[in-house]
Amino acid sequence: MCGIVGYIGEKQTVPILMEGLEKLEYRGYDSAGVAIYSQEDLVVKKFKGRLSVLADYLEENPLPGVLGIGHTRWATHGEPNDINAHPHTSYHGKIAVVHNGIVENYMKLKNWLKGKGIEFKSETDTEVIAQLIEYYYEGNLVEALQKAIQKMEGAYAIGVICKDQPDTLIGYRKDNPLVVGIGKGENFIASDIPALLKHTRDVYFLEDGEMAVLTRDHITILNDLGEEMNRDPFHVTWDIESAEKGGYQHFMLKEINEQPKAVRDTLFPRVDKENRIKLDELRLTGEELNQFNKIIIIACGTAMHAGLVGKYAIEKFARIPVEVEIASEFRYKDPFVDKKTLLIAVSQSGETADTLAALREAKGKGAHVLTVTNVVGSRISREAHDVFYTWAGPEIAVASTKAYITQIIALNLIGLYLAELKGTMTRAEVADKVAELKNLPDKIQAILDHQENIQAIANKQFNQQSVFFIGRGIDDYTSKEGSLKLKEISYIHSEAIAAGELKHGTIALLEKGTLVIALATQDQLYDKMLSNMKEVKARGAFVVAITKEKSREEVEESADVVLSIPDTDNVFTPVLAVVPLQLFAYYTAVARGADIDKPKNLAKSVTVE
Ligand code: AGP
Repeated sequence: MCGIVGYIGEKQTVPILMEGLEKLEYRGYDSAGVAIYSQEDLVVKKFKGRLSVLADYLEENPLPGVLGIGHTRWATHGEPNDINAHPHTSYHGKIAVVHNGIVENYMKLKNWLKGKGIEFKSETDTEVIAQLIEYYYEGNLVEALQKAIQKMEGAYAIGVICKDQPDTLIGYRKDNPLVVGIGKGENFIASDIPALLKHTRDVYFLEDGEMAVLTRDHITILNDLGEEMNRDPFHVTWDIESAEKGGYQHFMLKEINEQPKAVRDTLFPRVDKENRIKLDELRLTGEELNQFNKIIIIACGTAMHAGLVGKYAIEKFARIPVEVEIASEFRYKDPFVDKKTLLIAVSQSGETADTLAALREAKGKGAHVLTVTNVVGSRISREAHDVFYTWAGPEIAVASTKAYITQIIALNLIGLYLAELKGTMTRAEVADKVAELKNLPDKIQAILDHQENIQAIANKQFNQQSVFFIGRGIDDYTSKEGSLKLKEISYIHSEAIAAGELKHGTIALLEKGTLVIALATQDQLYDKMLSNMKEVKARGAFVVAITKEKSREEVEESADVVLSIPDTDNVFTPVLAVVPLQLFAYYTAVARGADIDKPKNLAKSVTVE
């Protein structure tokens, strides 16, 4: 998830782009850059690091011009450095491009262009866009872009300028946001409205497959057939702060609602139309992968909960023993690790000190280290042998939500990939599972579409002293995550107990009205869970059950309230069942007036032991 801004008008462009980028910095902040049409040339300045590095440079080295594009990057392809930063230019420097999203077939296109003698400077997928446009450019920028787009697969939004066309700025979107700002004698493009609000409140929202061709005084919107479209402008009435959060009250709620997209972005580039898994990023050969006799997953907090779900999936699919270790414990227990161990370090930030130390411990003992992380170029990604990036986009709220869900997707893909390799599942069986994984974004959306039901429960229950989460099998892991989410943002004491373990102690804490959230999504454990619900209800507990749609009616007899999730494969239910738990924690914290995005005593990345 990166931020794009573009300007064409009569004013100096650099200050306008920099103000816009500052408002988009929440979308990405590992590098930033601008391309300005200045003195009949395209001049690009771009640097690794926060926007302030670029700002300081441009203050000391002014760059005049009235047409330009700017970008804040959240790396996906290629580590954060000056060369991989945007804008990217074509071979002869004729075209400059800023881009948000992923060109899935970029390697194929890159090789094709290289075969035509075109040289590349960066490791990015974005450079391919600039090169393709120049390749097709014969004096008409719109036509060249239309031809380039036909070759590209993936989801992306782009801004383009051309050295030969100082009167034109182009924006295009496909499955990623881009808005067009309408000014007087000036016009704008941006990834998000906050970047524009200082200059205009009138915007056009582009639809997928649409291109906006901007001059100073005119905006033309073309559909994918090149036909001109009429569009009513939208007048923005929000204030800047809520616009930064996309109209949501908090980043956490925004990120919960971004989960369908986060899953799509992480999953779709790694599976093809025939539901085959391609993990091109793994440098290990099939033979090497096959020789591991054990997997250890190390992580902390929410990432560790994703690890537990991953263990369940990998063992089920690939029949390899998997241990999950809390990173801060692992390093001090003289673990059994050798060359036949595959260590998977899961970390959203890629900077967590305990996870990094555990990784080093295992690496020192000969383990092969694969990391699942969300931050390109992070320390853990640099020290691991192999990296699987989750493409959830930057996660701002301290409470991890969309990163967690994408970590589960990553571990499932690794499990299925190993299963086919080891022959524990057939190609057709793996394809069936992948087909269901592809359905998950829509199923998450179906839960999000009814979040008012969860808000209503939170509004009644927010005064609880203690909340208990119960579940069996994989539901126990989801319970643990639900409990952590609730305590970290609402400050209510909560515990997650394997449902069968309740009667061995914890049931003593139940009183009349105590809230118990019971997960019953596993078909094979379903009857047992109904008994556990009856058990706690008999002690006066108020039971909120989460179950699959198909079991809803039956569960109603054993619970006070039932929330259903769409039916799915048992192994994939954690991806859906966690969503009501995240929303419950969120709305409970709202009702208690807590500081949701920055809970007390917590930090987004824990870089101390
Ligand atoms: C999640 O909501 C927490 N804030 C926390 O448990 C977090 O998951 C943990 O600190 C690990 O962070 P990482 O994924 O960046 O390594």
